[in-house]
Amino acid sequence: MAIKSSNMKPLTDDPQRYRDVYYNAFYKMALKDILFEKVTQFFDTTVMMRLTHAIEGGEEFSVLGVGLGDGPHELHFMKSLRSQFSSICIVGVDLSESMLNTFQERVAALELNCESSVSCQLFNGPFSEFFAGSVLSKNKYNLISSIHSLYHLGDFETTFIQLASMMKDKGFIIVVCAKDNLISKTFNKFTWLSKNTQTLAGLSSTNVREFAHSQGYDVTTVDIPIQWDITEVFEDQSEFGNKLIDFFTQFAFFRKTAPSELMDELVNFWRLVSILDENGRILALSHEEILLISK
Ligand SMILES: C[S@@+](CC[C@H](N)C(=O)[O-])C[C@H]1O[C@@H](n2cnc3c(N)ncnc32)[C@H](O)[C@@H]1O
Repeated sequence: MAIKSSNMKPLTDDPQRYRDVYYNAFYKMALKDILFEKVTQFFDTTVMMRLTHAIEGGEEFSVLGVGLGDGPHELHFMKSLRSQFSSICIVGVDLSESMLNTFQERVAALELNCESSVSCQLFNGPFSEFFAGSVLSKNKYNLISSIHSLYHLGDFETTFIQLASMMKDKGFIIVVCAKDNLISKTFNKFTWLSKNTQTLAGLSSTNVREFAHSQGYDVTTVDIPIQWDITEVFEDQSEFGNKLIDFFTQFAFFRKTAPSELMDELVNFWRLVSILDENGRILALSHEEILLISK
C-alpha cells in the first residue's frame, strides 16, 4: 500500500520528534531501564572479561558508537573501561545533533572525575556518510556498538560488513536488537511501512546472528523477554499513546497525518497480537537480544 497522505513524514526526518518519542514514551514503555541494566551487567561481567583477556591494558582503547543517541550504554561502557585502560577514545555517530551534544556533555563530566584520559569525537549525520566520507571510518576500533540502531542504518548486510571492517582483529561488536516485538510484527505485516520510512524495523536479531555466522564470526547471545504495556495506544487522546504509535510506525505524528483507515487497520492488528492482563492492561510480548560478535 502506498502512503495516501503527503503530510506523513518519516520519524528520522524529524530528529526532535524522534528524541521526544523515543526517550519520553517508547523508552519508558519498553522498559529500556531494565534492558539497560541487563546490557550493562552483561558488559561488566562477560564483555569486560573478554576484552581484558584480548587487549593489553597499556594501549589506547577505542570505541565506535553507531546510532549513539544520548549514548547511555556507551557512557556506562566508558566508566567500566577506565578501570582497566588508561586512555579511552570514543567516536559517536548519530543523526541527532542535540543527542550527540548531550552525550558529549556527559563524557566531559566523566573526564573531570577520572584519572584516565577520555576523549570523544562526534559525527553528526547518517552512518552511510560517516563510512563513505569521514577519516574516522578509516580507523579500527576495539569495540563497536549498535544499540537499538541497526534498523536505521540502511541495508543490513552492507552495514554489517562495514562495521566489521572497522573492528580490530581482537575486537568486538555489541548489538542490541529486537528478536521479536510489536514493531517487527507490524513491519512484517505492513510492508509498505518499511518502504516509506526506510527503516528495517522487521530486522530481527536472528537475521543478524545468522549473517554474522555466515561471515565466519562467533556470536554470544543473551535473550531478554519483556512485556510492553501498550494500553494508551488505544486511547485516541493520549499524548503518550500517540508518541508510541509514532515509534511503532516510524512516522512523526502518525495519528494526525495518516488516513484514518490506515490507523484503524494498525490498531486492529495491535489488538489481535496482544493480550489482556488481569488488571485490564493490554500487553505485547517482546524479546530483545544482546549479541556479542567477535572473530
Ligand atoms: C532507537 S535510538 C537508540 C539510541 C541509543 N543507542 C540508545 O540505546 O538509547 C536510534 C538512534 O539511531 C539514530 N539514527 C537513525 N538513523 C541513523 C543513521 N542513518 N545513521 C546514524 N544514526 C541514525 C537516531 O537518531 C537515534 O539516536
